[in-house]
Amino acid sequence: EEGLSTKVVGHHIVYRERVDSTNNVAKKLADEGAPEGTIVVAEEQTGGRGRINRSFLSPFAKGVWFSLILRPNIPPMEVSKMTLLAAVAVARAIRHHGLTDCGIKWPNDILVKGRKMVGILTELNGSAEKVNYIIMGIGVNTGITAEDLPKDLQSIVTSFAREGVRVSRLALLETLLKEIEGLYQTVCRDGFAPVLAEWRALSCMLGQDVTVTSIDKTFSGKAVDIDENGNLLVATPEGVEVVMAGDIHVRPA
Ligand code: BTN
Repeated sequence: EEGLSTKVVGHHIVYRERVDSTNNVAKKLADEGAPEGTIVVAEEQTGGRGRINRSFLSPFAKGVWFSLILRPNIPPMEVSKMTLLAAVAVARAIRHHGLTDCGIKWPNDILVKGRKMVGILTELNGSAEKVNYIIMGIGVNTGITAEDLPKDLQSIVTSFAREGVRVSRLALLETLLKEIEGLYQTVCRDGFAPVLAEWRALSCMLGQDVTVTSIDKTFSGKAVDIDENGNLLVATPEGVEVVMAGDIHVRPA
């Protein structure tokens, strides 16, 4: 019963007390040739990074902060789908550890009762033709309390502790690695369709009225689906908009 049940993911584990960002450390190791499945896990990140140059709060021992090196044989175009895979794996793991009221907010947030508990940051290294490696960075808030959060985040961010659930960070990490490996094997064998189907089922956004802030504009509509590349489809009076990147706000009815 000892050790991990995974074959590849987490086969090499680099543990650090404190890093700037586990994604940065993983990138360096990948550049030096670290094998697929290597993970970097830290107690604390002093420069945890989120999407669009945002910072990600990662205080000592209050969450699972880790990054996984993968070397998938997929075209770079498809890398955004790996983020969807990560979101499905994390949602499964969180449910497994007792928080059933969780959903995925496109593209990469996991919300519990409408508040963000997880962030995922997938970074790509390669050329236009070939993926060299991807870094899948995942942060799950476990012990964060209201006092750890700046005022403006208190109503937006949650954690296992804030939801009243005790969880072992080690057990949670094990579940995460197992779910990621299972889905990764599925994708390598059957492609992304099963992952997209599960993503849809776990989404807390499809069917909702949303406001989209993308790089060059803001508009509103109904989130209707994701396409086969993981882009969000938003129906507006002018037609269906394909959203590849951006921030989504669900408008209260
Ligand atoms: C986001 O919410 O925009 C994504 C946040 C991703 C955070 C994780 S924590 C582990 C890894 N290292 C980082 O610096 N970021 C990711």
